[in-house]
Amino acid sequence: MYMLLLLNFVSYVIEEMGDTNGLCFLCLLYVCLNSVVCTSAIPVDSSLIYCGEGEAMKLDDGRVFEPDSGNSIASLSANSYIVVSNTELGVSKLYTSARVFTRTSTYTISTKQIGRHWLRLHFYPVENSQYNLESAVFSVVANGITLLHGFSFSKMGKKYPLIKEYVIEVGGLSSKKLVLTLSPWDGSIAFINGIEIAFVPNGQFPSSAVPIPLGAAVDIPTHVAFDTAYRINMGGPLLTPKNDILWRIWESDKPFLVNAATARNVSTDLSLVKYPAGVSVEIAPNLVYATAQEMADANVSDQKFNISWAFEVDEGFSYLIRMHFCDIVSVALNSLVFNIYINNQLAIESFDISSKTMALSAAYFIDFVVNVSMGSHQILVQVGPPDLRDLPTNAILNGLEIMKMSNPCDSLDGNFSAYNIVSKAPKNDKHVMLLLFSLLGGFAALVLCSAVFILCFCRQKRPKRQPSSWFPLPTHVGNSDTRASAGSFTSITPSLGGRILAFSEICEATKNFDESLVLGVGGFGKVYRGVLENGVVVAIKRANPRSQQGLVEFRTEIEMLTKLRHRHLVSLIGYCEELNEMILVYEFMAGGPLRKNLYGSDLLPLTWKQRLEICTGAAKGLHYLHTGAEESIIHRDVKTTNILLDENLTAKVADFGLSKLGPTLDQTHVSTVVKGSFGYLDPEYFRRQQLTEKSDVYSFGVVLMEVLCARPAINPALPREQVNIAEWAMNWQKKGQLEQIIDPHLAGSVTLDSLRIFGETAEKCLAEYGTERPSMGDVLWNLEYALQLQEASMQSIADGNSANHIPEIPDLIPYIEPANGNGVDTVSDQESDVTATMTTTTTGVFSQLINPKGR
Ligand SMILES: *[C@@H]1O[C@H](CO)[C@@H](O)[C@H](O)[C@H]1NC(C)=O
Ligand SMILES: *[C@@H]1O[C@H](CO)[C@@H](O)[C@H](O)[C@H]1NC(C)=O
Repeated sequence: MYMLLLLNFVSYVIEEMGDTNGLCFLCLLYVCLNSVVCTSAIPVDSSLIYCGEGEAMKLDDGRVFEPDSGNSIASLSANSYIVVSNTELGVSKLYTSARVFTRTSTYTISTKQIGRHWLRLHFYPVENSQYNLESAVFSVVANGITLLHGFSFSKMGKKYPLIKEYVIEVGGLSSKKLVLTLSPWDGSIAFINGIEIAFVPNGQFPSSAVPIPLGAAVDIPTHVAFDTAYRINMGGPLLTPKNDILWRIWESDKPFLVNAATARNVSTDLSLVKYPAGVSVEIAPNLVYATAQEMADANVSDQKFNISWAFEVDEGFSYLIRMHFCDIVSVALNSLVFNIYINNQLAIESFDISSKTMALSAAYFIDFVVNVSMGSHQILVQVGPPDLRDLPTNAILNGLEIMKMSNPCDSLDGNFSAYNIVSKAPKNDKHVMLLLFSLLGGFAALVLCSAVFILCFCRQKRPKRQPSSWFPLPTHVGNSDTRASAGSFTSITPSLGGRILAFSEICEATKNFDESLVLGVGGFGKVYRGVLENGVVVAIKRANPRSQQGLVEFRTEIEMLTKLRHRHLVSLIGYCEELNEMILVYEFMAGGPLRKNLYGSDLLPLTWKQRLEICTGAAKGLHYLHTGAEESIIHRDVKTTNILLDENLTAKVADFGLSKLGPTLDQTHVSTVVKGSFGYLDPEYFRRQQLTEKSDVYSFGVVLMEVLCARPAINPALPREQVNIAEWAMNWQKKGQLEQIIDPHLAGSVTLDSLRIFGETAEKCLAEYGTERPSMGDVLWNLEYALQLQEASMQSIADGNSANHIPEIPDLIPYIEPANGNGVDTVSDQESDVTATMTTTTTGVFSQLINPKGR
């Protein structure tokens, strides 16, 4: 308000002085004024960071940049970097120092609110004796969006300083953080001079826009990122951050005019510019609306030409085009009518600004989306007279913004469809591979660079490979295990089970592996929530290239799942094996892992009946594995994180990566390297390295105890005798006092009979020797019996008889706090997926497991 008043005053003075030199004078005055006024008008939720060490730095435009070291808002990942500086004169202070990274590094910048933020990056190849920044080649990623890929000044010439402006969404699960990753290419370095962040006011970007050629409005979801390609002040001067309350830069349109003779600049008094509802200085400053280009020799009735501006852009991207209008040339309403064309297509016919604004000199803007197809490198914007005879012809444009929109793979640099070239790419060309991967990628450059190097390395040694070329499967699976008589693994046809999905589909489904969609992390890699093109919600498991579980497990899982279909087994929807990716797509289990429903999260505690139903379901799944298929299958990794629940809490057994075919008729066991998860491992299997279905039964016994007590299988934070649930619960069970250690949430609702059967079942499962353990079929039968008893007693409670219940939990029951901070109790299950061989672990915690006799 204060500022507006001042401006009004200034304009008044200028008006009095006459109009001839008005604009120049105005600008001068404005600049002086702004240096006073604008410094106090700092954008909401903004930070200014310069990359170097020292004191806060005040620029000529009045803005104060804080150093990136020791900054409370921005933290820099500890990595090898160095600051270089020079004393070059004539450049902004911001460009006297740069931070140089020899390895992938990240800035994590806290914002005050979620939502879209402007991110401006300053690059200036500071001259110094140590590094040649001009030849640096690097990539930049922000919140999962690829901003720059393989960027280098050596490619673009001496166009610096370079200020790149982006709009990035801060939010989702990534919370109030902007994570900026700079990743040097192999053997090169990365650098940056300054970072600006400012909140984008709500309503600044449309949720949909009219496409060119004209059609139904296209949606612009908030996760779409923008890269400002051009921001132009038609007919006016360059506007710098001090002229714009959101620190934007507006360029002059002169270099883009196709024929300068067709246009003439016009300007009006700043004070005359009105902002109707829905438009404000945040959309564009009045300096933009107060100037325009109009047709040269306007108002000559028979002139017939367009004013055209041409902008060079990257092919294969969609662009948001915002045109700013303000009728500063007419003397009456409805006298200025013209056509607008984008890329030779009619965007608006017979456009009359005043019909929208009902006033002259009123700000107005329109958005369009145009797709710049492959092979085209230009956006042509034209305004010109319509085929009307009776009106004086004129056309104007006051401002123009062209924003590149991130593609479905969340990239703003590189074209996704170039992916098709991948299979034809020269195998040994590391750089081509790097480029292609990143075109596809859009995921953290950190993973990218290291992964690509490994992958390229592998490719050199591997013969030409087509997607899914690893079919048929090898005739046996297993690691070093050649004795495994699993020769019955036959080749399967891909059509049998999940379909083959293209990497592009996976990218799209996961918003290019958006961190906010991560459901969990395991030894295999990350699991993302995704939505396929057909709207089906899925869980997408992507192998970490450095995962311990490798190709063998990946294939095992597909092999197993394509053979098996059961209500209590998680089904495979598809998989992807392009580009050395190993990705499995499963049905999405909305309820998450059983473990999360038991403890360590704030989900509602499960009732005893629900727990019994879940255990029964899981037992059915395992029973089917052991007996239902042609050959018996041993899961080998039964645990509460591998039992998933759907939205109705139906339990399904997941994760067949470690599965093995069971013993054939002439064998009693499969000999194998010990694999599985600590706390669940059958001691006999460990001792004798012989695998039978009874190993799964043991692990399932651990699961039953976990369900009953709602605590982790192994919790090192507890007193020694309590660390291992199997051991501890068995002690109480043998004393006949299992109810002493049950989940306090169950108190009062568990029927003693039901608990007794449950406890006995778990006890049998945990028997020392496999031969003493029941089959999964017996376990299932007993659990169903326990469920029946519970249901019957619930019925009798309803009928008014509660004698058979545990009245309440006695005082002596220790309440088990979920152990946090030791990594054991995290729901993400990072620790328990460890599939290391047991012989390597001899820590005290596990010693009891290693020597079962010690119990
Ligand atoms: C407007 O046009 C005049 C004359 O053609 C030129 O001298 C002046 O620089 C232009 N102003 C801007 C801001 O382009
Ligand atoms: C203006 O440009 C459009 C699209 O390129 C074209 O169709 C139209 O004929 C042009 N108008 C004039 C008067 O040249």
